[in-house]
Amino acid sequence: MANIRHPIVDVHTHVYLPQYAAELRARTSAPRILNWTNGVKTEERLLILDGEPSGGRPVGPQYWDRDEKLEFMRRHGINISFVSSANPWLDFLPADRAQTLAHELNNNLEEYCATSPPAEGFSGLKTLYGFGLLPLVPDVEVSAIVQAIEYLKLLPHIRGIIMGTKGIGKGLDDSALDPIWDAIQAARLVVFIHPHYGVDSTAFGENDNGHVLPLALGFPFETTIAITRLILSGVLDRFPNLRLLLAHSGGALPQLSSRLASCIQHDPIVANRLKHDLRYYLGQLYFDAVAYGPEELTFVSRTISRASAFKSGGGTVDPVVGSSRLLFGTDHPFFPPLEASQKWPSVESNLAAIRGMPGVDSKPEHQANILGLNALRLFDLHDQVYT
Ligand code: URA
Ligand code: ZN
Repeated sequence: MANIRHPIVDVHTHVYLPQYAAELRARTSAPRILNWTNGVKTEERLLILDGEPSGGRPVGPQYWDRDEKLEFMRRHGINISFVSSANPWLDFLPADRAQTLAHELNNNLEEYCATSPPAEGFSGLKTLYGFGLLPLVPDVEVSAIVQAIEYLKLLPHIRGIIMGTKGIGKGLDDSALDPIWDAIQAARLVVFIHPHYGVDSTAFGENDNGHVLPLALGFPFETTIAITRLILSGVLDRFPNLRLLLAHSGGALPQLSSRLASCIQHDPIVANRLKHDLRYYLGQLYFDAVAYGPEELTFVSRTISRASAFKSGGGTVDPVVGSSRLLFGTDHPFFPPLEASQKWPSVESNLAAIRGMPGVDSKPEHQANILGLNALRLFDLHDQVYT
């Protein structure tokens, strides 16, 4: 197999910056970080939702300490990471505080990245880049959010924005967000759409199944609903150059896209609303490869490839297109091993899934794209190393 020199780039990796962790420690209701005593042992725990299963999860320096991030990257052979704040971002704050904290955290993240070591073997690149935050809460003026986008554009190591699914309170299909999409598109910032709330927890019954149902099912369904609503509201028709990266391989969107398309075609209210068949829009989106299985990744790649066939007026299926929109990610510091181990099985299984994708396993150039080169292209960093 030909050897293609490429970095391994992680586009889905989080941090609770020290100032954000301090904000959570000062709170008395979720989201919060609290001291939790079990017998003689006291530990810090992160509780991100009211009524979160199993009393939240233990947290420690891997959530905020940059050296821990760099050590995790070194251990797993990751050369470059695009670090984003973890959920629930600023969603729970009043407007004034959300604005102040967004500004401070964006500056902190720029500093966190700008002072990171150079990426070894890839001259001109740093080990760390970031997704900034916007004060996306009700009562913040849209013009102030647009200003925050323009400010982010000035921070050289901030290459995108992480966003939940609430918008400024009414979801991502709220037409009030149009000036925000417009400004993001003009600034060429990548939007990472990430879940937090899941679905109504009554759907998960009364048995204690830990975090399995909300994380494995609630998160992806939240993403699926949010992005479907966004497409149905015409955002991707109005802003065709918007670059949206979906968490966890876009939830169930690839799997349900033909069903959605059929429901749209048969519904008198939406049948003529969009410029294209719903399946077309998958080719306008980017998907992280945080799916843990090779067959699932190939499936996502094929549904992306198929998109071109649904352009109004037709088109041919280009099988390469799909793998050019998939990007490796880890979800660090979440999903640590339950027992001490040098490498994290959650990371190893995502790497193995990319390398084992049926149809891609014998194509080193596609693997190199998914493992790192797609990210460099998406974040406009490719020319710095490959000119
Ligand atoms: N991954 C995340 O990004 N957030 C969580 O809360 C859990 C897993
Ligand atoms: Zn995540």
